[in-house]
Amino acid sequence: MRIIKCRDYEDMSRKAANLIGALVTGRPDCVLGLATGSTPLGIYASLIRRYESGDLDFSAVKSVNLDEYRGLGEQDPQSYRYYMRENFFRHINIRPENTHLPDGLEPDSEKACADYDAVIASMGGVDLQLLGLGHDGHIGFNEPNDFFDKETHCVDLAPMTIEANKRFFASADEVPRQAYTMGIAAIMRAGCVLLAVSGKDKAQILKEALTGPVTPRVPASALQFHPHLIVAADADALSLF
Ligand code: F6R
Repeated sequence: MRIIKCRDYEDMSRKAANLIGALVTGRPDCVLGLATGSTPLGIYASLIRRYESGDLDFSAVKSVNLDEYRGLGEQDPQSYRYYMRENFFRHINIRPENTHLPDGLEPDSEKACADYDAVIASMGGVDLQLLGLGHDGHIGFNEPNDFFDKETHCVDLAPMTIEANKRFFASADEVPRQAYTMGIAAIMRAGCVLLAVSGKDKAQILKEALTGPVTPRVPASALQFHPHLIVAADADALSLF
């Protein structure tokens, strides 16, 4: 595990974008595993700036996202497909057909998950998986559980996650109760995992995830076993180290 200590959110965003940019430069047809939420916004903004200045070319890059709310389609501003388009994809030259998320509108959850596993398999592996960290230790929407869910599955969102994500909705009642998410095994198969963490509110869970027991009660703790884990975290998030 390598921990990159960053001054603040901006610094963390630039350094994480440096790592992703280096991969895209060295392997223009790489497969990026992407995340949504607040944490990656600065990383995407930084990558967009590099694209605009001519330093990065995404024309052969493929992407797979971690998760999507069940029941939300790409026209829904709260869907992760919409988020990715607005915050990243439409600003760079990635081909829309090379970008993948679980199909939130597929009502048959078994089919939605099997289809997404097939998409991930067809990529031939994720080169770099970007992750944020949930307050309860979730990665993707792998919530605390009695076991590590391996592949894509449909998950009931934990009350803490609904509470944290209600800021993107008119009220907590509107936050979907379920999501489709990549599993822990799929995340662990990525060549490199880049965990981006910012803020004092993540300090306790970051410490638990990286130095506590490896347990499905703290899903991110599985990352301790990843052979190529890079943590880009700011001083607030690292304040308990
Ligand atoms: C997003 C995702 C989630 C978030 C996590 C942290 O695709 O899968 O695991 O990374 O909830 O969210 P933020 O960054 O908003 O604190």
